[in-house]
Amino acid sequence: KQELAIAIDGPAAAGKSTVAKIVANTLSYVYIDTGAMYRALTYKALQQGVNVKEEEAVTALLENTTIELQQSEHGQLVFLDGQDVSHAIRSHEVTKQVSYVAEHRKVRKEMVKQQQDLAAKRGVVMDGRDIGTHVIPDAEVKIFLMASVEERAERRHKENVEQGFASDLEQIKEDIRKRDKIDSEREVSPLLKADDAIEIDTTALSIEQVADKILQAVEQKE
Ligand code: C5P
Repeated sequence: KQELAIAIDGPAAAGKSTVAKIVANTLSYVYIDTGAMYRALTYKALQQGVNVKEEEAVTALLENTTIELQQSEHGQLVFLDGQDVSHAIRSHEVTKQVSYVAEHRKVRKEMVKQQQDLAAKRGVVMDGRDIGTHVIPDAEVKIFLMASVEERAERRHKENVEQGFASDLEQIKEDIRKRDKIDSEREVSPLLKADDAIEIDTTALSIEQVADKILQAVEQKE
């Protein structure tokens, strides 16, 4: 069977990573979470007191930074200047600031270049915001995942509670709305459904149902 590139885009907390991992495992493909790269740079900026809204400062920081994605049996690990930051980049603070870092043209250019290298070999499931439109415009399968803000916030809230984290549903809704707005309205490769992407509204679907739909789309292309 031919190895493909599968691009999964969509707004924050639409279930992209959960579904992408299942699809990648089923097909024995590599799962690549591109948001982790923007998060890692954001984490470094916050650590160093760099203003995430200042393009020049963030770009200068990026020039002295290495971000590596590594596959492990526990999924993707993220290394920032050689240090494992896989957990640290999931903090509330990073989540709140990351969309400002991801707005900068030079930042995106560098991240996209690395992501394209990773996708060149195919056999990848890559999730993000601009994968089908800019990173792998020739991906064999493109998926755009959607769900209502309420549904996405409730899922994230439930996840937090299950993991024993403090969680405020209204706050999550507000954060998701804000991140979607910045991601959709930015000038450089905004969050957009590619013309040839299959749109899946996951509001009323289970994780397995969504994964099955994607696997069916893959079967037709293999
Ligand atoms: O997917 P995740 O929620 O971890 O992404 C974090 C943020 O990184 C997004 O809200 C967006 O601002 C940015 N991002 C992006 N392009 C991607 C992946 C993520 O701009 N391909």
